[in-house]
Amino acid sequence: MTTKLCVPLTANTYERMAADIRAATAAQADMIELRLDHLRDHDLASLRRLMDAARSFPGELIVTCRMAEEGGRWDGDESGRVSLMELAGLCGAHYLDFEYEAWRRSANIRQKIGLVCDVNTDSSRPRARLILSKHDFERTPDDPASILADIAREPAHVVKLACKANKITDSLLMLEALRASAAVRPTIALSMGEAGILARVLARKWGAVLTFASLEAGQESAPGQVPVTQMREMYRWDALNAETRVYGVIGCPVAHSMSPAIMNAAFGEVGHNGVYLPMRVEPDYTDFRAFVDGCLRRPWLDLRGCSVTIPHKQNLLRYVEERGGDIEPLARRIGAANTLSVEKGTRPDGSDARVSASNTDYRGAMDALMAGLAGGGDLGDAAVVVLGAGGASRAIVAGLRDAGCRVTICNRTADKARALADEFQATARPWNDRGRLEADVVVNCTSIGMWPKVDESPLPGGPRLGKMVVFDTIYNPIETQLLRDARERGCRTIDGVAMFVNQAAAQFQIWTGIPAPTATIRLHLVQRLGR
Ligand code: ATR
Repeated sequence: MTTKLCVPLTANTYERMAADIRAATAAQADMIELRLDHLRDHDLASLRRLMDAARSFPGELIVTCRMAEEGGRWDGDESGRVSLMELAGLCGAHYLDFEYEAWRRSANIRQKIGLVCDVNTDSSRPRARLILSKHDFERTPDDPASILADIAREPAHVVKLACKANKITDSLLMLEALRASAAVRPTIALSMGEAGILARVLARKWGAVLTFASLEAGQESAPGQVPVTQMREMYRWDALNAETRVYGVIGCPVAHSMSPAIMNAAFGEVGHNGVYLPMRVEPDYTDFRAFVDGCLRRPWLDLRGCSVTIPHKQNLLRYVEERGGDIEPLARRIGAANTLSVEKGTRPDGSDARVSASNTDYRGAMDALMAGLAGGGDLGDAAVVVLGAGGASRAIVAGLRDAGCRVTICNRTADKARALADEFQATARPWNDRGRLEADVVVNCTSIGMWPKVDESPLPGGPRLGKMVVFDTIYNPIETQLLRDARERGCRTIDGVAMFVNQAAAQFQIWTGIPAPTATIRLHLVQRLGR
């Protein structure tokens, strides 16, 4: 079954609902869901007109009317909503969606809606198909597959389960349930919330009946829905299939990441059958391990690689070490990695998957720095101040020391600056001295000034001297407050875009084995940053 992109429509008047049907048609939705409970007034004549208007929609139509306790807005009585739904079924709705509990509780629903949906006959072409659904807005149960199986005991044409994902591992549970259920019956299984995006996009890989996508950002009927145009354009919805390989960016937070836009565009450019998703994993090592282990234990997921960002770069190294995987010598020396690669084994439990870790930040940063220096640049024994002592700093300090630079590290947490300096024969200075230091080059490796806190700078007041070269590893925004101050002082500035493109291109090549389309990566990055 080819999974449909279904746009839920939640306007509160019939006129607006009709306008949204036209908008969903223009947005190329495959299906629409009319949420009757969002309408302010409920009269049968208006519904009849709305159903007439819905005939212009070329795809299929779901009609739903949820009560407050089912996560909806219906405040009328049960028989009122049954009348509306019945009429919708008789006026051409392809699917009627009822909550499983309501169906079980109400003989009236079973009798009337059952009749409209022909559930007691073997009709291969029922007037309307019955979706029985269950929602949990708080959590994901431990065994969603058994809930889908319970629902399937009723005469539903489609079973549906939607649960809040509190962690990304909840999405894995849901995908597992979807995969098992969709193999035997038409199924909709999805995870709500930011951590649920994996389940929403990958629904197509296992042939769910549909996934929901919002008409536009801000018009979601449930948290975590991706706008329909983003599903089609960014996640390349139409190209997803059972063979699609899965990649992503593991971080926390990760919603702002540009990586999904650029990596998916790059996959599309070279025709690689892959999809790249944001993967929000809570900061602890145990969360990181639970997620990656959870993916590897499910080899059918086809996870092949992840970019790993704040705050997990050191977790990645520890994880690959623990699993006995390969660590690129450079990444080991730097003590941080940003690229996870997975080579699938043959065992169904995934226990023979091979993981490896590499660091593409280092090359990305050094290439950007060299290219940004006057005349192609030679760092020689330049004096460089590095702000920050996290994963990115480690990579850059290692690179700078390799190139022969004299490096001074300033970090808010002094111990971390000292430890890093000791390791790479650099000097540590107190964080408060950072504005007073003389240097040829200043590199910001902290997250200060990153979107959304764009007015902040790691060097309040700007760099001390106009002859300094100032390199900010932050790429969002392209011109940070630090770089703006530096430019105004006459400094040469290097932004984070080149570094970001270089490191992403290196990851792309590690995963796919083919050279990255760097022009496409740059274009999409700059386009998104410009929005
Ligand atoms: P990355 O892998 O990108 O380097 P990281 O390892 O989390 O990310 O490191 C973030 C760096 O930004 C750290 O040096 C951090 O300083 P601490 O070691 O003191 O935590 C620095 N940083 C983040 N927010 C900061 C702030 N508000 N003020 C000063 N330093 C900050």
